[in-house]
Amino acid sequence: MKKHIYILLFFSLGVIMYSFGQDRKTFKVKDILRYCDNQLKRTLGELKDSSFMPRSMNSGQKKWSLVGIHDWTSGFWPGILWYDYEYFRNDRIKEKAIQYTEYLQPLVNPNQKVDHDIGFQIFCSYGNAYRLTGDEKYKKIILEAAAKLSELYNPVVGTILSWPNMVQKMGWPHNTIIDNMMNLEILFWASKNGGDKRYYDMAVSHAMVTKKNAFRENGSCFHVAVYDTISGKFIKGVTNQGYSDGSMWARGQAWAIYGYTMVYRETLDKQFLRFAEKVANIYLDRLPEDYIPYWDFDLPSIQDEPKDASAAAIASSALLELAQLEDNKEMAERYRSAAIVMLNNLSSKKYQSRNANNSFLKHCTGNHPSKYEIDASIIYADYYYIEALTRYNFTCNALRPYMRSSK
Ligand code: GLY
Repeated sequence: MKKHIYILLFFSLGVIMYSFGQDRKTFKVKDILRYCDNQLKRTLGELKDSSFMPRSMNSGQKKWSLVGIHDWTSGFWPGILWYDYEYFRNDRIKEKAIQYTEYLQPLVNPNQKVDHDIGFQIFCSYGNAYRLTGDEKYKKIILEAAAKLSELYNPVVGTILSWPNMVQKMGWPHNTIIDNMMNLEILFWASKNGGDKRYYDMAVSHAMVTKKNAFRENGSCFHVAVYDTISGKFIKGVTNQGYSDGSMWARGQAWAIYGYTMVYRETLDKQFLRFAEKVANIYLDRLPEDYIPYWDFDLPSIQDEPKDASAAAIASSALLELAQLEDNKEMAERYRSAAIVMLNNLSSKKYQSRNANNSFLKHCTGNHPSKYEIDASIIYADYYYIEALTRYNFTCNALRPYMRSSK
């Protein structure tokens, strides 16, 4: 009897060690982080000393197209430098991360116009800066950004107005886009780090109202939810960057997986965990074989349609966290292995830029309906890719969750 128990124990241990080893063997995260480090050093060499940030490169283009600090993507480049510094602890990279982060300070000026993107801009840059240095001057900027974002909250609707400039232009009185789920993180953080406690309630309300109105029965989301400003009623769900109002825009669904996973981490309210699973499951169920989606899941034909590697990078980072938070072992395993397949495929020669240009990834789609950034390298794909690699590395080596909890 005893002998049988020993054999069983030995066998189980073997299986556990084998799966762990497999995970590590097939996915050499250190080599991939080293690849990112080389690419970003080449980008640093390419940039002149100015506050312009790299944003994207179309296929065949060798140099980054640059944008000013007011562009919605301006926080990703400093964020990438912070993640690289987190792993390699290179002081020169830290100096550059500080330099590019601090260029963004004017975004929190009191008379500076704001939309929901202030969350991406400030939390990816200053958020990581504060996380890694603990410097109080960064905390102050994050709190100022959260205060500005909170000004866009409409208590009658219960969500943030994402795009003030689309109110007139598109006739969308109170519009809330799915991307805005990402920017609840700065509100949660601020509410727990010296900011107004009401930011927490705003973020929870935004997540609840969006969950109710911006999703279809099957868990796929609209890009834009339009509400009546006065009555607060939901008017319609439409798209801006997806194929059609009724389709599942790939990056939008990835924002939703990431957003609801983060809301669960911050609230520990199980309804958000169950919802994160629902929005993740439909995304996973509908992926093509290599787990990198076409830019929209409902294209009439995929022939000649570009992929969106940025959606895969965002989803992989989100799924690694979702797996950590899961209360169900099988689901956790599903999400973690899916994330690893995504990261493995993104790290293949098909998706890595390598010598084609200085970015990490190619085959991303920014805005297909506007014919903008199609099959391109885009800075936010690189940001979520290095974030996912960092999360993966941390969970493998420390065998404990890598979470940016605000507590
Ligand atoms: N947040 C804008 C985009 O995903 O394109």
